[in-house]
Amino acid sequence: MTVSNALARRTGMPILEAGHVWLAGAGPGDPGLLTLDAFAGLQQADVVVHDALVDQRVLALAGEQAWFEFAGKRGGKPSATQADISQRLVALAHEGRRVLRLKGGDPFVFGRGGEEAMTLAAAGVPFRVIPGVTAGLAALTAASIPATLRGVNRAVIFAAGHGAEENFDWGPIARAGQPIVLYMVMHNLKQIADALMAAGLPPQTPAAIVASAATPRERLLVATLETVAAQARTNNFEPPAIVAIGEIVEFRGRLLGVTPSTRDDTKDKS
Ligand SMILES: C[S@@+](CC[C@H](N)C(=O)[O-])C[C@H]1O[C@@H](n2cnc3c(N)ncnc32)[C@H](O)[C@@H]1O
Repeated sequence: MTVSNALARRTGMPILEAGHVWLAGAGPGDPGLLTLDAFAGLQQADVVVHDALVDQRVLALAGEQAWFEFAGKRGGKPSATQADISQRLVALAHEGRRVLRLKGGDPFVFGRGGEEAMTLAAAGVPFRVIPGVTAGLAALTAASIPATLRGVNRAVIFAAGHGAEENFDWGPIARAGQPIVLYMVMHNLKQIADALMAAGLPPQTPAAIVASAATPRERLLVATLETVAAQARTNNFEPPAIVAIGEIVEFRGRLLGVTPSTRDDTKDKS
């Protein structure tokens, strides 16, 4: 038993056993948004296999015994394929390691966690999944935008913006009349905004971008569907970012106690 395992048994933390994998969400950045179970995994893991978007402040919570393996894309360098990463998790478990697979946000929201879990299940590796605060919700909260408001919306649509080049049909999403929270959208923002407007969403629909939510680099831009892509370019908004579209964006002003506005507005918190 490692020192950290002994500590876990004493404190009642869940135990990360040798040969097991925990597939955990690291949240959007701020370590305060980590679950206690993910923290327990960090404390006990022999190896932490993490993506690029996992914040360094979260990784710093790992126990002294832990080593780190990077499994993401960085700086245009060739990255491991999804199959390589999944197989690496299986191999580490078969070596009897305590494995923490740490992914930004929630592992099952646009994170390919489902594929990794299926590979682990097929290989007979014991694993559990620990949810995390997904960037879409963290970004709304960071911008003081409520995800749902009684009488305003009864659904929230989470969508991936990299579907544009695949001829994804944005019509049903535009016509749903519910707020849309877009991930991985910065490269296709103009095409997607155009597609939503072509499908009937009014150009004046409020829109906000929250970049690097819950990190010291957090930035916010409030615009309209018609202007958001140009504003993002002018103000050099970069990924990772969430774009929220819909009436809920207007309520930000009320939460902040100022008059709601659809004017283009940027705020850099760095
Ligand atoms: C591959 S997806 C991973 C999503 C993650 N599994 C989740 O639940 O948040 C990466 C996208 O998540 C969003 N994202 C992740 N971290 C973010 C952050 N701190 N601020 C804003 N957006 C973020 C961006 O849209 C980014 O392109």
